[in-house]
Amino acid sequence: MTTVLVIGAAGKTGRAVTRSLTSHGVTVRAAVRSPERAETAYAAGARSISVVDLGSGLGLDDAFDGVDGVYHLAPNVHPDEVAIADRVAGAAVRAGVARFVFHSVLHPHDPSMPHHLRKAEAEKVVRTHLRGATVLRPAAYHQNLLDAAHAGRLAAPYSLDTPFTNVDLDDVAEVAATVLARPGHEGVTYDLAGPEVLSVREQAHVAADVLGHPVEAVRVELAEWVAGPGASLTPQARDDLLAMFASYDRGGLVGEAAPLRRLLGREPRSWADVLTHT
Ligand SMILES: NC(=O)c1ccc[n+]([C@@H]2O[C@H](COP(=O)([O-])OP(=O)(O)OC[C@H]3O[C@@H](n4cnc5c(N)ncnc54)[C@H](OP(=O)(O)O)[C@@H]3O)[C@@H](O)[C@H]2O)c1
Repeated sequence: MTTVLVIGAAGKTGRAVTRSLTSHGVTVRAAVRSPERAETAYAAGARSISVVDLGSGLGLDDAFDGVDGVYHLAPNVHPDEVAIADRVAGAAVRAGVARFVFHSVLHPHDPSMPHHLRKAEAEKVVRTHLRGATVLRPAAYHQNLLDAAHAGRLAAPYSLDTPFTNVDLDDVAEVAATVLARPGHEGVTYDLAGPEVLSVREQAHVAADVLGHPVEAVRVELAEWVAGPGASLTPQARDDLLAMFASYDRGGLVGEAAPLRRLLGREPRSWADVLTHT
């Protein structure tokens, strides 16, 4: 694998995957939504940029020119995730790329979360085009709570006591590079969950210990979230996230760490490790 096209390369996941691929000696072409995002992708290590509109597919075929692998991730809670997967996988087939990895989510078939079900459908669409595609299903990232932990306040619009096996995004990105660069992962689906089960309250305790300052866990009322962070979202994205909060409130989000441990060949990073090293 010499050149990999990373879709959504300027986003949170795309930057981590770009950094990881680059550190493994792979050349990254970054697919970004607009030229203004080029600097962000270059800063993560991308060597070239393609401006692509995932909504229409404009620029996609050009982006695949000279590429032999692709890492596909969809914009978060995007309503057209399935059509986007169809466009990207179709372009990959036309370009004849050797390797295709799709970034899905842990428990994509959970019927309580519409955006998870779209991931399940997108996985199916990808496999229809490319039976040899690899699918990664990460748990929620530790990095989602990192800034809040440093600021001393983990706020959640769901139970503070339900269990999560959050995963380090850099571990996920390391696996992304492994499955793209090495053979043996064609047609396989991997759950990528972290090595410990922690509630938000327990994550606050760990963060306080590691960071050496108070970190409180605060349950936010849904109405407060809707009027605050939720106010700038589209109604569909807001509803998707409200369904996710309800699911988290009932049972958290828990998976098995064994596949991640095996793929990394070491113990996955814990929440304390992530707090210590970032
Ligand atoms: N966060 C988690 O804990 C977690 C866990 C498991 C799976 N995931 C999945 O990971 C995926 C990526 O999440 P993320 O947080 O990394 O997302 P993100 O930061 O929002 O990145 C998405 C990227 O897609 C780009 N984009 C949006 N619309 C586009 C369009 N029409 N054409 C081209 N590019 C477009 C965005 O461009 P701009 O930079 O211009 O905005 C952004 O760079 C999501 O599918 C999510 O479900 C997330």
